[in-house]
Amino acid sequence: MLKGKSLLCLLDFSKQEIEKMMEVSFQMKNFYLTKAIPKSLDGKNVALIFEKPSTRTRVSVETAVRVLGGNPIVLNKSEIQLGRGEPVEDTARVLGRYVDGIGARVLKHESLEILSKYSGKPTINLLSDLSHPLQALADFMTIKEKFGEYTSVTFVGDGGDNVLVSLMAFVAKMGLTIKIASPKELRPREDIWKKIEEEAEKSGAIIEFYEDPYEAVRGTKVVYTDVWVSMGQEEIAEKKKAMLKDYKVTTDLMKYASKDAIFMHCLPAVRGEEVDKEVLDGPQSAVWDEAENRLYTAMSVLSLLL
Ligand code: CP
Ligand code: NVA
Repeated sequence: MLKGKSLLCLLDFSKQEIEKMMEVSFQMKNFYLTKAIPKSLDGKNVALIFEKPSTRTRVSVETAVRVLGGNPIVLNKSEIQLGRGEPVEDTARVLGRYVDGIGARVLKHESLEILSKYSGKPTINLLSDLSHPLQALADFMTIKEKFGEYTSVTFVGDGGDNVLVSLMAFVAKMGLTIKIASPKELRPREDIWKKIEEEAEKSGAIIEFYEDPYEAVRGTKVVYTDVWVSMGQEEIAEKKKAMLKDYKVTTDLMKYASKDAIFMHCLPAVRGEEVDKEVLDGPQSAVWDEAENRLYTAMSVLSLLL
């Protein structure tokens, strides 16, 4: 049911389709750990474009393509003509003639839409300024592993963050709950927020914004944060740090969460800025499991779409 589709935003998928991605992620983990990996990308070529740096996404997706029997072609922007100003449309048209699928980490989300449209091949969002769907899939996989179900989540920090948008999209589609502690000025882009709200209304999901992080965290099972300054926001770095100074995940804040709460962060993190070192490196931290699960969700999405 998912063959041939692009994954630009989780909002483009039904609840059943997202459930399928999750189910296959768990299967892929089992296959990977028992070394019985299906060669579902046998003979397939996948171009992986990076306009911004990446460790987890780059390595998990490249590994995923390779272990599934495919051939990943990593293209850093500076090494291809895109970096010299060749239009995204032209890049897409050409790649569409060579490869079976595209993954791309882009500065502007619209570039993903262009890549998908002009290549005619399934295109996967490897992070844009707007969202990061593969991250959210790995995060909810981790939550399910830890608690046996999808619990509610509290996000503390930038209310317009790209990872948060994908967490909200997942929540909205699946009918879950997310609380967000963030300054009023930081909210998702209006068009995407409208879609999230519509989906939440249909599914019964609860998405609540708080100004007080202590109130948002009270009793929660999952405390999530991301960097205060995302890639591409360097010019407004000082402004954002000032806005977010009261939204750090500290050891004190963690005391207000449920006793068995976990701490999550998509990484890379800035210890001492958005999160205390003691939390990130402490016993409640689930960040390494979260990072590991990026591989299995990448394997799942690639084998389902391609
Ligand atoms: N979480 C994540 O996407 O990390 P990278 O930027 O290293 O890919
Ligand atoms: N919000 C961060 C996520 C990095 C994985 C960024 O866009 O830089």
